[in-house]
Amino acid sequence: MNSSGARVTLTDTYGRTVRSLRMSITNRCNLNCIYCHNEGDPGSVREMSVETIVSIVRAAADLGVDRLKISGGEPLLRKDLEDILTELPPLRDVSLTTNAILLKERALSLKEAGLDRVNVSLDTLDPAKFRMITNCKKDILGKVLAGIEEAVRVGLTPVKVNMVLLKDLNENEIEEMLAFTKQFNGNVILQLIELMDFKDVADLHVNADEVEGALLARSTDVKVRQMHHRKKYIINGAEVEFVRPVDNTEFCANCNRLRVTADGKLKPCLLANDNLVDVSNASPEELPALLQLAVSRRVPFYTGRRDQNGSRTDS
Ligand code: 5AD
Repeated sequence: MNSSGARVTLTDTYGRTVRSLRMSITNRCNLNCIYCHNEGDPGSVREMSVETIVSIVRAAADLGVDRLKISGGEPLLRKDLEDILTELPPLRDVSLTTNAILLKERALSLKEAGLDRVNVSLDTLDPAKFRMITNCKKDILGKVLAGIEEAVRVGLTPVKVNMVLLKDLNENEIEEMLAFTKQFNGNVILQLIELMDFKDVADLHVNADEVEGALLARSTDVKVRQMHHRKKYIINGAEVEFVRPVDNTEFCANCNRLRVTADGKLKPCLLANDNLVDVSNASPEELPALLQLAVSRRVPFYTGRRDQNGSRTDS
């Protein structure tokens, strides 16, 4: 509350209120996916202490943030993840984005420590393609699938399967992936993701309009999520979400998340690196103003602005 009794929130100059924190707790990863954006943070190992992570989340929660997504790198590489979860303030939704290689062993302890649900990165059910996409020589697809099953069993649901669409690699596997998710009776939701070109992977980009058109043609119902205005299609009773971040003005206009990098910098936009706010050494007293500062630097990356010749001016 502020002095006049009104609840203080993290609202940017475009009227977007930040409700969700996406926190990278390590930049280490046990895979090396061909397209990965590394949360914009590759390089030498960077991690914050449990105390720093928790104090950032507490300060954000005091300012109206009620959702937390923990990401990496691969967050399960941190053995103290359960300690982090146990220390968190009460939140509406705490989720984790993982490649699920280590999930089977950890799912129950994560659930018991307060995790609500997981997103699992899984682009293909074909072992050879999986090895190719992840740059991993070992056959670990089985571990990922076992991780998903265990997550469902212990109630880290709905499990969302993140499938980044890749030309000539998995674009024809949507049906198969839908059949896979459907067997979990609503506990696993397929989330298709349009590829963002961070690593010179433009050749792998799939035409999102075509995919979306095909989904629409086959769906019996369409819903729109508030977050990023993402669309959900109901196909044969199974739910498919489509995340289209590229060139999408609606995506930015409805973005309500603030990122935190593995080394403790508030990151107003995934696609911008020149506006970070360092909170790695901030005291609990300093954090509210630094959060406000980062939020004041939030500018929609895609605004749909055009110059006189009709060319884009917003990227
Ligand atoms: N384009 C789209 N999504 C990406 N992710 C990582 N890199 C990219 C990219 N270039 C997403 C995937 C993965 C999550 C960790 O980040 O959805 O599941």
